[in-house]
Amino acid sequence: MIALQLTETHEMIRSTAREFAHNVIAPSAVERDQTGEFPHDIVQQLGELGFMGMMVAEEWGGSGLDTVSYVIAMEEISKVDASVGVIMSVNNSLVCWALETFGTSEQKERFLRPLAKGEKLGAFCLSEPGAGSDATQQSTVAVQQNGSWVINGTKNWITNGTTANIYLVFAQTDREKRHKGITCFIVEEGMEGFERGKKEDKMGIRSSDTCSLSFTNVRVPHSTHVLGEVGRGFNIAMEVLNGGRIGIAAQALGIAQGAFEAALKYAKERKAFDRPIADLQAIQFKLAEMSVKIEAARLLTLKAATLKDQHQNIIKAAAEAKLFASKTAVEVALDAIQIHGGYGYVREYLVERFLRDAKITEIYEGTSEIQHIVIAREVLKA
Ligand code: CAA
Repeated sequence: MIALQLTETHEMIRSTAREFAHNVIAPSAVERDQTGEFPHDIVQQLGELGFMGMMVAEEWGGSGLDTVSYVIAMEEISKVDASVGVIMSVNNSLVCWALETFGTSEQKERFLRPLAKGEKLGAFCLSEPGAGSDATQQSTVAVQQNGSWVINGTKNWITNGTTANIYLVFAQTDREKRHKGITCFIVEEGMEGFERGKKEDKMGIRSSDTCSLSFTNVRVPHSTHVLGEVGRGFNIAMEVLNGGRIGIAAQALGIAQGAFEAALKYAKERKAFDRPIADLQAIQFKLAEMSVKIEAARLLTLKAATLKDQHQNIIKAAAEAKLFASKTAVEVALDAIQIHGGYGYVREYLVERFLRDAKITEIYEGTSEIQHIVIAREVLKA
Protein backbone atom coordinates (compact mmCIF):
# COMPACT_ATOMS: atom_id res chain seq x y z
CA MET A 1 0.00 0.00 0.00
CA ILE A 2 1.22 3.51 -0.68
CA ALA A 3 -0.10 6.75 0.74
CA LEU A 4 -0.01 9.68 -1.66
CA GLN A 5 0.60 12.53 0.70
CA LEU A 6 2.09 15.72 -0.69
CA THR A 7 4.23 17.69 1.75
CA GLU A 8 4.90 21.41 2.15
CA THR A 9 8.14 20.91 0.24
CA HIS A 10 6.19 19.39 -2.67
CA GLU A 11 3.80 22.36 -2.72
CA MET A 12 6.77 24.73 -2.63
CA ILE A 13 8.37 22.90 -5.57
CA ARG A 14 5.07 23.17 -7.47
CA SER A 15 4.77 26.91 -6.93
CA THR A 16 8.45 27.53 -7.76
CA ALA A 17 8.19 25.47 -10.96
CA ARG A 18 4.87 27.06 -11.91
CA GLU A 19 6.19 30.58 -11.41
CA PHE A 20 9.37 29.84 -13.35
CA ALA A 21 7.39 28.20 -16.17
CA HIS A 22 4.99 31.14 -16.35
CA ASN A 23 7.54 33.95 -16.06
CA VAL A 24 10.61 32.58 -17.80
CA ILE A 25 9.63 29.70 -20.11
CA ALA A 26 6.17 30.67 -21.40
CA PRO A 27 6.98 34.04 -23.02
CA SER A 28 9.33 32.50 -25.60
CA ALA A 29 7.80 28.98 -25.94
CA VAL A 30 5.83 29.71 -29.11
CA GLU A 31 8.76 31.36 -30.82
CA ARG A 32 11.03 28.43 -29.96
CA ASP A 33 8.44 25.99 -31.34
CA GLN A 34 8.60 27.92 -34.61
CA THR A 35 12.38 28.37 -34.82
CA GLY A 36 13.46 25.16 -33.09
CA GLU A 37 16.05 27.13 -31.17
CA PHE A 38 17.51 25.31 -28.14
CA PRO A 39 16.68 27.13 -24.85
CA HIS A 40 20.26 27.54 -23.57
CA ASP A 41 19.46 30.39 -21.15
CA ILE A 42 16.45 28.56 -19.70
CA VAL A 43 18.46 25.38 -19.11
CA GLN A 44 21.12 27.46 -17.36
CA GLN A 45 18.47 28.99 -15.09
CA LEU A 46 16.94 25.57 -14.41
CA GLY A 47 20.40 24.54 -13.24
CA GLU A 48 20.59 27.53 -10.91
CA LEU A 49 17.17 26.59 -9.50
CA GLY A 50 18.45 23.07 -8.78
CA PHE A 51 16.10 21.48 -11.33
CA MET A 52 18.75 19.75 -13.45
CA GLY A 53 19.84 17.38 -10.68
CA MET A 54 16.76 17.33 -8.50
CA MET A 55 17.14 13.80 -7.10
CA VAL A 56 20.94 13.84 -6.83
CA ALA A 57 22.28 13.98 -3.27
CA GLU A 58 23.51 17.39 -2.13
CA GLU A 59 26.90 15.76 -1.56
CA TRP A 60 27.23 15.49 -5.37
CA GLY A 61 25.88 18.93 -6.23
CA GLY A 62 22.20 17.99 -6.53
CA SER A 63 19.09 19.18 -4.72
CA GLY A 64 18.58 16.00 -2.68
CA LEU A 65 14.84 15.94 -3.41
CA ASP A 66 12.58 12.93 -3.93
CA THR A 67 11.05 11.59 -7.15
CA VAL A 68 7.64 13.04 -6.24
CA SER A 69 9.18 16.55 -6.24
CA TYR A 70 10.74 15.79 -9.61
CA VAL A 71 7.46 14.72 -11.25
CA ILE A 72 5.68 17.75 -9.83
CA ALA A 73 8.30 20.05 -11.37
CA MET A 74 8.24 18.09 -14.66
CA GLU A 75 4.46 18.49 -14.92
CA GLU A 76 4.58 22.25 -14.34
CA ILE A 77 7.44 22.83 -16.79
CA SER A 78 5.97 20.56 -19.50
CA LYS A 79 2.57 22.21 -19.18
CA VAL A 80 4.15 25.32 -20.65
CA ASP A 81 6.89 23.83 -22.83
CA ALA A 82 7.36 20.07 -23.27
CA SER A 83 10.67 20.65 -25.08
CA VAL A 84 12.16 22.06 -21.89
CA GLY A 85 10.53 19.14 -20.07
CA VAL A 86 12.39 16.49 -22.04
CA ILE A 87 15.75 18.28 -21.79
CA MET A 88 15.31 18.33 -18.02
CA SER A 89 14.03 14.75 -17.86
CA VAL A 90 16.92 13.18 -19.77
CA ASN A 91 19.48 15.00 -17.63
CA ASN A 92 17.74 14.15 -14.34
CA SER A 93 16.33 10.68 -14.65
CA LEU A 94 18.54 9.08 -17.26
CA VAL A 95 22.02 10.57 -16.98
CA CYS A 96 22.31 11.85 -13.39
CA TRP A 97 20.48 8.88 -11.93
CA ALA A 98 22.67 6.40 -13.84
CA LEU A 99 25.88 8.12 -12.73
CA GLU A 100 24.78 8.40 -9.10
CA THR A 101 23.60 4.77 -8.98
CA PHE A 102 26.34 3.03 -10.93
CA GLY A 103 29.28 5.47 -10.91
CA THR A 104 32.46 5.39 -8.84
CA SER A 105 33.23 8.30 -6.49
CA GLU A 106 35.70 9.60 -9.07
CA GLN A 107 33.06 9.48 -11.84
CA LYS A 108 30.54 11.23 -9.59
CA GLU A 109 33.01 14.00 -8.80
CA ARG A 110 34.07 14.45 -12.40
CA PHE A 111 30.86 13.86 -14.37
CA LEU A 112 27.84 13.87 -12.03
CA ARG A 113 28.61 17.04 -10.08
CA PRO A 114 28.61 19.45 -13.08
CA LEU A 115 25.55 17.70 -14.55
CA ALA A 116 23.61 17.94 -11.29
CA LYS A 117 24.47 21.63 -10.96
CA GLY A 118 23.34 22.28 -14.52
CA GLU A 119 26.80 23.41 -15.59
CA LYS A 120 26.92 20.55 -18.08
CA LEU A 121 24.24 18.66 -19.97
CA GLY A 122 23.89 14.91 -20.44
CA ALA A 123 22.59 12.57 -23.12
CA PHE A 124 21.61 8.89 -23.03
CA CYS A 125 22.63 6.95 -26.13
CA LEU A 126 20.96 3.58 -26.50
CA SER A 127 18.89 3.71 -29.72
CA GLU A 128 20.49 3.04 -33.08
CA PRO A 129 19.31 3.18 -36.71
CA GLY A 130 18.50 -0.55 -36.45
CA ALA A 131 17.85 -0.89 -32.70
CA GLY A 132 14.93 1.01 -31.18
CA SER A 133 12.41 -1.18 -29.35
CA ASP A 134 14.76 -4.18 -29.60
CA ALA A 135 17.53 -2.47 -27.70
CA THR A 136 19.54 -5.69 -27.37
CA GLN A 137 20.53 -5.46 -31.07
CA GLN A 138 23.44 -3.05 -30.59
CA SER A 139 25.64 -2.53 -33.67
CA THR A 140 27.90 -0.08 -31.88
CA VAL A 141 30.95 -2.02 -30.72
CA ALA A 142 33.74 -1.33 -28.25
CA VAL A 143 37.01 -3.25 -28.28
CA GLN A 144 39.56 -3.23 -25.48
CA GLN A 145 43.08 -2.05 -26.39
CA ASN A 146 45.92 -1.23 -23.96
CA GLY A 147 43.79 -0.06 -21.04
CA SER A 148 41.30 1.77 -23.25
CA TRP A 149 38.14 0.94 -25.17
CA VAL A 150 37.80 1.87 -28.83
CA ILE A 151 34.19 2.62 -29.79
CA ASN A 152 32.76 2.44 -33.33
CA GLY A 153 29.15 2.85 -34.42
CA THR A 154 26.16 5.15 -34.79
CA LYS A 155 23.42 6.21 -32.36
CA ASN A 156 20.05 7.65 -33.39
CA TRP A 157 17.35 9.89 -31.90
CA ILE A 158 19.57 11.21 -29.15
CA THR A 159 17.89 13.88 -27.01
CA ASN A 160 20.29 16.73 -26.12
CA GLY A 161 22.44 15.26 -28.92
CA THR A 162 24.14 18.37 -30.31
CA THR A 163 24.26 20.32 -27.04
CA ALA A 164 25.28 17.76 -24.40
CA ASN A 165 28.75 17.58 -22.90
CA ILE A 166 28.56 14.11 -21.34
CA TYR A 167 27.12 11.07 -23.13
CA LEU A 168 26.26 7.64 -21.75
CA VAL A 169 26.89 5.33 -24.69
CA PHE A 170 25.89 1.66 -24.82
CA ALA A 171 28.01 -0.65 -26.96
CA GLN A 172 28.47 -4.34 -27.60
CA THR A 173 31.70 -5.54 -25.99
CA ASP A 174 31.11 -9.28 -26.46
CA ARG A 175 28.71 -10.19 -29.24
CA GLU A 176 28.46 -13.85 -28.31
CA LYS A 177 27.02 -12.95 -24.93
CA ARG A 178 24.25 -10.95 -26.61
CA HIS A 179 22.62 -8.56 -24.09
CA LYS A 180 25.02 -9.74 -21.38
CA GLY A 181 27.86 -8.47 -23.58
CA ILE A 182 26.74 -4.81 -23.64
CA THR A 183 28.68 -2.17 -21.66
CA CYS A 184 27.95 1.47 -20.80
CA PHE A 185 30.67 4.05 -21.57
CA ILE A 186 31.04 7.71 -20.71
CA VAL A 187 31.95 9.73 -23.80
CA GLU A 188 32.78 13.42 -23.61
CA GLU A 189 32.06 16.19 -26.09
CA GLY A 190 35.11 16.88 -28.23
CA MET A 191 36.69 13.41 -28.00
CA GLU A 192 38.54 12.49 -31.18
CA GLY A 193 36.35 10.54 -33.63
CA PHE A 194 33.10 11.59 -31.95
CA GLU A 195 30.81 13.47 -34.37
CA ARG A 196 27.36 14.92 -33.76
CA GLY A 197 24.88 14.98 -36.66
CA LYS A 198 22.49 17.71 -37.63
CA LYS A 199 19.48 18.48 -35.47
CA GLU A 200 16.35 16.57 -36.59
CA ASP A 201 13.41 18.63 -37.90
CA LYS A 202 10.71 17.16 -35.67
CA MET A 203 6.89 17.31 -35.60
CA GLY A 204 6.87 18.37 -31.93
CA ILE A 205 9.13 19.15 -28.96
CA ARG A 206 10.84 21.23 -31.60
CA SER A 207 13.27 23.21 -29.50
CA SER A 208 14.65 20.11 -27.82
CA ASP A 209 17.62 18.88 -29.70
CA THR A 210 17.61 15.40 -31.26
CA CYS A 211 20.34 14.08 -33.54
CA SER A 212 22.36 11.06 -34.53
CA LEU A 213 25.92 10.53 -33.27
CA SER A 214 28.81 8.76 -34.90
CA PHE A 215 31.80 7.14 -33.23
CA THR A 216 34.90 6.40 -35.28
CA ASN A 217 37.67 4.85 -33.20
CA VAL A 218 36.67 6.93 -30.17
CA ARG A 219 39.11 5.95 -27.43
CA VAL A 220 38.04 6.11 -23.78
CA PRO A 221 40.12 4.99 -20.77
CA HIS A 222 38.87 1.85 -19.02
CA SER A 223 39.61 3.11 -15.50
CA THR A 224 37.45 6.25 -15.67
CA HIS A 225 34.99 5.94 -18.56
CA VAL A 226 33.26 2.58 -18.06
CA LEU A 227 30.02 3.00 -16.08
CA GLY A 228 29.23 -0.02 -13.91
CA GLU A 229 30.52 -3.47 -14.74
CA VAL A 230 31.63 -4.56 -18.19
CA GLY A 231 28.78 -6.64 -19.66
CA ARG A 232 26.10 -5.11 -17.41
CA GLY A 233 25.24 -2.21 -19.73
CA PHE A 234 21.88 -3.58 -20.87
CA ASN A 235 20.73 -4.09 -17.29
CA ILE A 236 21.86 -0.55 -16.45
CA ALA A 237 19.90 0.80 -19.44
CA MET A 238 16.74 -1.06 -18.40
CA GLU A 239 16.95 0.06 -14.77
CA VAL A 240 17.60 3.65 -15.78
CA LEU A 241 14.67 3.58 -18.21
CA ASN A 242 12.27 2.44 -15.47
CA GLY A 243 12.89 5.76 -13.72
CA GLY A 244 13.01 7.64 -17.03
CA ARG A 245 9.52 6.44 -17.85
CA ILE A 246 8.20 8.15 -14.72
CA GLY A 247 9.73 11.41 -15.96
CA ILE A 248 8.09 11.02 -19.38
CA ALA A 249 4.76 10.17 -17.72
CA ALA A 250 5.05 13.50 -15.87
CA GLN A 251 5.93 15.28 -19.11
CA ALA A 252 2.84 13.78 -20.79
CA LEU A 253 0.73 14.77 -17.80
CA GLY A 254 1.95 18.36 -18.11
CA ILE A 255 1.06 18.44 -21.82
CA ALA A 256 -2.43 17.08 -21.05
CA GLN A 257 -2.96 19.60 -18.26
CA GLY A 258 -1.83 22.48 -20.52
CA ALA A 259 -4.21 21.41 -23.31
CA PHE A 260 -7.06 21.00 -20.81
CA GLU A 261 -6.59 24.47 -19.32
CA ALA A 262 -6.54 26.02 -22.80
CA ALA A 263 -9.76 24.17 -23.72
CA LEU A 264 -11.47 25.13 -20.46
CA LYS A 265 -10.65 28.82 -20.93
CA TYR A 266 -11.84 28.79 -24.53
CA ALA A 267 -15.06 26.93 -23.66
CA LYS A 268 -15.97 29.64 -21.14
CA GLU A 269 -15.23 32.50 -23.56
CA ARG A 270 -16.51 31.22 -26.90
CA LYS A 271 -20.21 31.70 -27.53
CA ALA A 272 -22.50 29.60 -29.74
CA PHE A 273 -26.27 29.34 -29.74
CA ASP A 274 -26.36 32.51 -27.57
CA ARG A 275 -24.31 31.08 -24.68
CA PRO A 276 -20.77 30.06 -23.82
CA ILE A 277 -20.04 26.64 -25.34
CA ALA A 278 -19.15 25.46 -21.79
CA ASP A 279 -22.93 25.47 -21.17
CA LEU A 280 -23.44 22.85 -23.89
CA GLN A 281 -23.58 19.29 -22.65
CA ALA A 282 -21.51 18.05 -25.61
CA ILE A 283 -18.62 20.23 -24.41
CA GLN A 284 -19.22 19.47 -20.72
CA PHE A 285 -18.95 15.72 -21.36
CA LYS A 286 -15.66 16.25 -23.15
CA LEU A 287 -14.30 18.39 -20.31
CA ALA A 288 -15.36 15.78 -17.76
CA GLU A 289 -13.64 12.99 -19.71
CA MET A 290 -10.47 15.04 -20.07
CA SER A 291 -10.46 15.91 -16.37
CA VAL A 292 -10.89 12.34 -15.14
CA LYS A 293 -8.20 10.97 -17.46
CA ILE A 294 -5.74 13.63 -16.32
CA GLU A 295 -6.47 12.90 -12.67
CA ALA A 296 -5.94 9.18 -13.24
CA ALA A 297 -2.68 9.84 -15.10
CA ARG A 298 -1.50 12.08 -12.24
CA LEU A 299 -2.29 9.42 -9.65
CA LEU A 300 -0.47 6.70 -11.62
CA THR A 301 2.55 8.98 -12.04
CA LEU A 302 2.64 9.94 -8.35
CA LYS A 303 2.22 6.29 -7.39
CA ALA A 304 5.20 5.23 -9.51
CA ALA A 305 7.29 8.13 -8.10
CA THR A 306 6.31 7.22 -4.53
CA LEU A 307 7.24 3.56 -5.07
CA LYS A 308 10.61 4.69 -6.42
CA ASP A 309 11.17 6.84 -3.35
CA GLN A 310 10.34 3.80 -1.22
CA HIS A 311 12.94 1.75 -3.17
CA GLN A 312 10.29 -0.71 -4.28
CA ASN A 313 10.09 -2.47 -7.66
CA ILE A 314 8.82 0.15 -10.15
CA ILE A 315 8.93 -1.80 -13.42
CA LYS A 316 5.16 -2.21 -13.73
CA ALA A 317 4.13 1.06 -12.08
CA ALA A 318 6.48 3.12 -14.27
CA ALA A 319 5.30 1.42 -17.47
CA GLU A 320 1.64 1.87 -16.45
CA ALA A 321 2.15 5.55 -15.68
CA LYS A 322 3.91 6.20 -18.98
CA LEU A 323 1.44 4.17 -21.04
CA PHE A 324 -1.61 5.86 -19.55
CA ALA A 325 -0.25 9.40 -19.29
CA SER A 326 1.05 9.43 -22.87
CA LYS A 327 -2.29 8.11 -24.22
CA THR A 328 -4.06 10.74 -22.11
CA ALA A 329 -1.83 13.50 -23.49
CA VAL A 330 -2.69 12.60 -27.08
CA GLU A 331 -6.41 12.17 -26.40
CA VAL A 332 -6.75 15.34 -24.34
CA ALA A 333 -4.82 17.35 -26.93
CA LEU A 334 -7.17 16.05 -29.65
CA ASP A 335 -10.22 16.96 -27.55
CA ALA A 336 -8.79 20.41 -26.86
CA ILE A 337 -8.48 20.96 -30.62
CA GLN A 338 -12.05 19.71 -31.14
CA ILE A 339 -13.38 22.14 -28.52
CA HIS A 340 -11.55 24.98 -30.30
CA GLY A 341 -13.14 23.95 -33.63
CA GLY A 342 -11.44 25.60 -36.62
CA TYR A 343 -9.35 27.76 -34.29
CA GLY A 344 -7.83 24.59 -32.88
CA TYR A 345 -6.47 23.67 -36.28
CA VAL A 346 -4.48 26.85 -36.88
CA ARG A 347 -1.12 27.63 -35.34
CA GLU A 348 -2.20 31.06 -34.12
CA TYR A 349 -4.39 29.54 -31.40
CA LEU A 350 -1.56 27.40 -30.05
CA VAL A 351 -3.52 24.31 -29.01
CA GLU A 352 -2.25 22.22 -31.93
CA ARG A 353 1.26 22.37 -30.38
CA PHE A 354 0.03 20.21 -27.49
CA LEU A 355 -0.90 17.44 -29.92
CA ARG A 356 2.43 17.66 -31.79
CA ASP A 357 4.32 17.56 -28.47
CA ALA A 358 2.14 14.79 -27.00
CA LYS A 359 2.75 12.25 -29.77
CA ILE A 360 6.41 11.62 -28.92
CA THR A 361 5.53 10.56 -25.37
CA GLU A 362 3.98 7.41 -26.91
CA ILE A 363 7.26 6.69 -28.69
CA TYR A 364 10.40 7.54 -26.70
CA GLU A 365 11.74 5.78 -23.61
CA GLY A 366 9.87 2.70 -24.81
CA THR A 367 6.90 2.87 -27.18
CA SER A 368 3.39 2.19 -25.88
CA GLU A 369 3.66 -1.26 -27.46
CA ILE A 370 6.80 -1.93 -25.35
CA GLN A 371 5.01 -0.67 -22.22
CA HIS A 372 2.23 -3.22 -22.90
CA ILE A 373 4.87 -5.97 -23.10
CA VAL A 374 6.54 -4.82 -19.88
CA ILE A 375 3.21 -4.66 -17.99
CA ALA A 376 1.97 -8.00 -19.35
CA ARG A 377 5.22 -9.74 -18.34
CA GLU A 378 4.94 -8.36 -14.79
CA VAL A 379 1.24 -9.30 -14.55
CA LEU A 380 1.99 -12.84 -15.74
CA LYS A 381 4.85 -13.19 -13.22
CA ALA A 382 2.59 -12.46 -10.28
N1 CAA B 1 13.91 -3.32 -15.53
C1 CAA B 1 15.01 -4.00 -15.11
N2 CAA B 1 15.56 -5.00 -15.84
C2 CAA B 1 14.97 -5.33 -17.00
C3 CAA B 1 13.83 -4.66 -17.49
C4 CAA B 1 13.29 -3.62 -16.70
N3 CAA B 1 12.22 -2.93 -17.08
N4 CAA B 1 13.49 -5.21 -18.69
C5 CAA B 1 14.38 -6.17 -18.92
N5 CAA B 1 15.29 -6.24 -17.91
C6 CAA B 1 16.41 -7.16 -17.78
C7 CAA B 1 15.93 -8.60 -17.58
O1 CAA B 1 15.72 -8.88 -16.22
C8 CAA B 1 17.09 -9.39 -18.14
O2 CAA B 1 18.14 -9.41 -17.21
P1 CAA B 1 19.12 -10.72 -17.03
O3 CAA B 1 19.61 -11.08 -18.38
O4 CAA B 1 20.17 -10.22 -16.10
O5 CAA B 1 18.26 -11.79 -16.43
C9 CAA B 1 17.56 -8.51 -19.32
O6 CAA B 1 17.14 -7.17 -19.02
C10 CAA B 1 17.01 -8.91 -20.66
O7 CAA B 1 15.61 -8.87 -20.55
P2 CAA B 1 14.62 -9.60 -21.55
O8 CAA B 1 15.09 -11.01 -21.79
O9 CAA B 1 13.25 -9.40 -21.04
O10 CAA B 1 14.88 -8.79 -22.89
P3 CAA B 1 13.95 -8.66 -24.16
O11 CAA B 1 14.86 -8.39 -25.28
O12 CAA B 1 12.99 -9.80 -24.28
O13 CAA B 1 13.01 -7.36 -23.86
C11 CAA B 1 12.61 -5.04 -23.72
C12 CAA B 1 13.52 -6.20 -23.41
C13 CAA B 1 11.62 -4.86 -22.58
C14 CAA B 1 11.84 -5.16 -25.02
C15 CAA B 1 13.62 -3.87 -23.81
O14 CAA B 1 14.47 -4.08 -24.93
C16 CAA B 1 13.02 -2.52 -23.85
O15 CAA B 1 12.60 -1.97 -22.85
N6 CAA B 1 13.01 -1.91 -25.07
C17 CAA B 1 12.67 -0.53 -25.24
C18 CAA B 1 13.92 0.30 -25.29
C19 CAA B 1 13.68 1.71 -24.89
O16 CAA B 1 12.93 2.01 -23.97
N7 CAA B 1 14.39 2.61 -25.56
C20 CAA B 1 14.32 3.99 -25.22
C21 CAA B 1 15.50 4.69 -25.80
S1 CAA B 1 16.12 5.94 -24.75
C22 CAA B 1 15.21 7.33 -25.01
O17 CAA B 1 14.21 7.33 -25.67
C23 CAA B 1 15.72 8.51 -24.29
C24 CAA B 1 15.42 9.84 -24.88
O18 CAA B 1 16.26 10.39 -25.53
C25 CAA B 1 14.16 10.54 -24.53
